[in-house]
Amino acid sequence: MKVIALADLHYNIPRCREHVQEQARAVCQKGGDVLVIAGDTASTEIHFFEDALRLFQDFPGRKLLVSGNHDVWVLAAEDSRKRYEQTLPDICRGHGFEYLDAGPVVIDGTAFVGTMGWYDYSFRDESLAVPLRFYEAKVGPGAAEALRRHQYLVNGHGDVTEAMKQITAIWRDGQHVRLGATDAEFTAEQAGKLQRHLDEVAPQVQQIVAVVHHLPIWGMAPQAEEPNWRFARAFLGSCCFGEMLDRQPKVRYVLAGHSHWPHRGRGVHAEYINVGSGYHRKHEVEVEL
Ligand SMILES: [Fe+2]
Ligand SMILES: [Fe+2]
Repeated sequence: MKVIALADLHYNIPRCREHVQEQARAVCQKGGDVLVIAGDTASTEIHFFEDALRLFQDFPGRKLLVSGNHDVWVLAAEDSRKRYEQTLPDICRGHGFEYLDAGPVVIDGTAFVGTMGWYDYSFRDESLAVPLRFYEAKVGPGAAEALRRHQYLVNGHGDVTEAMKQITAIWRDGQHVRLGATDAEFTAEQAGKLQRHLDEVAPQVQQIVAVVHHLPIWGMAPQAEEPNWRFARAFLGSCCFGEMLDRQPKVRYVLAGHSHWPHRGRGVHAEYINVGSGYHRKHEVEVEL
């Protein structure tokens, strides 16, 4: 079984569009048994998500997808939860894609499970000593000090150092995602759902491919020393997904996206692969099962 994995198409971004169209043409022509898109297909205006899926209409095999954080970016009056649980699966269904966040798919004795995943700050760099409230607000202390609506995070607190104020990063899920839960709550919910999907399919199959948009293990994160990057690591994923996948011996591959950083490495049982597509360059990964 030939599986082709793509990720981070970001089709709403004009500079990505031509690359994605080119990649989609090549993938449809080459063909395969299964196409997997590991999240961040398109954000905000929903027609871009649909336009992106339409590019793969001639792919001859099964088509699977997980959501990414950018796929649940919504306009001011909208709700990310509704987009995640209703709008995206409906559009997938309409374009021949199976939405792994909603349930596993079994193809010829191989199960595909998947989730957008999320982050609970378990990847955060503790040596920065940045208080948790900045991660919850998704702004670095330097950015909070400069932005009126976030100054309450700095003013009146004695725990913000000058070094922390060098961190001016803003993680924009904070502005565009409304899930109605804290990041930790949502991560736990996502992990519970993935565990249920694994438990459901494991007895029926010989092998499992897991697709998780956010990084499931810390080792997949790019190593960077710059303080803004060290702060942003907290939003790259959560250890809970990798720990769960490492407990299931039938998991053969784990496919991720999100960091835009290619990676291949071994977990306890599975090979962990990040497709590594970014805004300027689109990659694909092919695995034979
Ligand atoms: Fe992305
Ligand atoms: Fe992402």
